Amino acid sequence: MTQETALLPKSPVAGDENAPARKVFVKTYGCQMNVYDSDRMSDALTRDGYVATDVLEDADFVLLNTCHIREKAAEKVYSELGRLRELKKAKASEGREMVIGVAGCVAQAEGNEILRRSPAVDLVIGPQTYHRLPEALKRARNGERVVETDYALEDKFEHLPAPDNAKTRLRGVTAFLTVQEGCDKFCTFCVVPYTRGAEVSRPVAQILAEAERLVDGGVREITLLGQNVNAWHGTGPDGRDWGLGDLLRRLGEIDGLARLRYTTSHPRDMDESLIEAHRSMMKLMPYLHLPVQSGSDRILKAMNRRHTAAEYLALVERIRAVQPDLALSGDFIVGFPGETEEDFEDTMRLVAAVGYAQAFSFKYSSRPGTPGADLKDQVSEDVKAKRLERLQTLLVNQQRDFAAGCVGREIDLLLEKPGRMPGQLVGRSPWLQPVNVDAKRSQIGDIIKVRITKAGSNSLFAEVIE
Ligand code: 5AD
Ligand code: SF4
Repeated sequence: MTQETALLPKSPVAGDENAPARKVFVKTYGCQMNVYDSDRMSDALTRDGYVATDVLEDADFVLLNTCHIREKAAEKVYSELGRLRELKKAKASEGREMVIGVAGCVAQAEGNEILRRSPAVDLVIGPQTYHRLPEALKRARNGERVVETDYALEDKFEHLPAPDNAKTRLRGVTAFLTVQEGCDKFCTFCVVPYTRGAEVSRPVAQILAEAERLVDGGVREITLLGQNVNAWHGTGPDGRDWGLGDLLRRLGEIDGLARLRYTTSHPRDMDESLIEAHRSMMKLMPYLHLPVQSGSDRILKAMNRRHTAAEYLALVERIRAVQPDLALSGDFIVGFPGETEEDFEDTMRLVAAVGYAQAFSFKYSSRPGTPGADLKDQVSEDVKAKRLERLQTLLVNQQRDFAAGCVGREIDLLLEKPGRMPGQLVGRSPWLQPVNVDAKRSQIGDIIKVRITKAGSNSLFAEVIE
């Protein structure tokens, strides 16, 4: 690749051997794509001589990578900005600089409003323009209040540095890789199509290069990311149209890469080739995050999900037929406008019928600018809270049953990091559960055979099979 030399980490103090490196502190909210983006942004700043710090007080540049999916997410950002303002003042009185930046979906949605509400903010940058961050930061340091939220015409991934191998080693044996961004589905409750923009798929060659680089850096498990990851499509090296199933099969050919996952999927985009991948690919983990949001056809229609509860159940059955070991995870919203007690019972019935290994459930939160916000019959907070509690009790019980069902099973465990007890490591089961086992530090990155001996509340315990 021609960019290769530019991607090598430069000395953190390029040009001046004695100046201390400037430090960047990144705080990430929300989804896994934000985690991925935060790493790419801090990698981009390394080229300008920045080093990452975990100590907020030490930072010359504080960047909040924000989430706008629900109300509380944005509120948290504004209160964090209030605290940062005090810190910035304190540092200024000591003659030290602190630039404050806001990235992510709140940045995209609120834009200038952030500068107005939070006078301490110097820089606002939306997800489509992250490749412009180094340049925007320079302008901010020169006193400009910068807002970069236009959808950029250029491809940000072309301009952002690929993962830095030295850092990958520090970041661990599992990694995220964004293959698709944005969403064209326009579910009526969701801000994503407005904050992340239209669906864009990264080209095959770019994805393969990045995956190979991660594996060179010691990564054993890659999770492909996209708001609608299974809508990913591209042109394969064979000139054919590829879907996610084809991409997974090609990635599965990378030596040293042991495991693949993908998230988040939309039920309408689970095509035959992707389902088949679950039958034939050993490296594809038997775990699928397949949000349904509601079990009521009436609500699904109002949400613009464009499938029925029965279609979802039939899909789950088809996938389980090719991969009986599949664990399902889901997202649910209670209290969407107009949701009646009967609609909610439909959701409870669907959950009971599927049996989830893991799930995320939320009270509906009206998002400005989405069609849902204009609907009549908003459900009271009280009713939402009661329904959420009932749903979560059911989901937690299912999660517990799933974990209990693992006890006694022999599984492959990817050893990830030191555990809480000396002499222990934590690994990941095929179904994403953390598993504690006695193992040596030097085994991190190995996949070993273990027998699950016990299920705790948030993790499993196992013994090594000799
Ligand atoms: N209110 C509540 N939950 C929401 N989600 C998305 N938008 C909203 C909203 N307005 C949930 C959905 C989605 C997950 C990422 O967040 O369940 O799948
Ligand atoms: Fe939001 Fe629906 Fe797109 Fe998912 S599919 S990101 S819920 S609009």
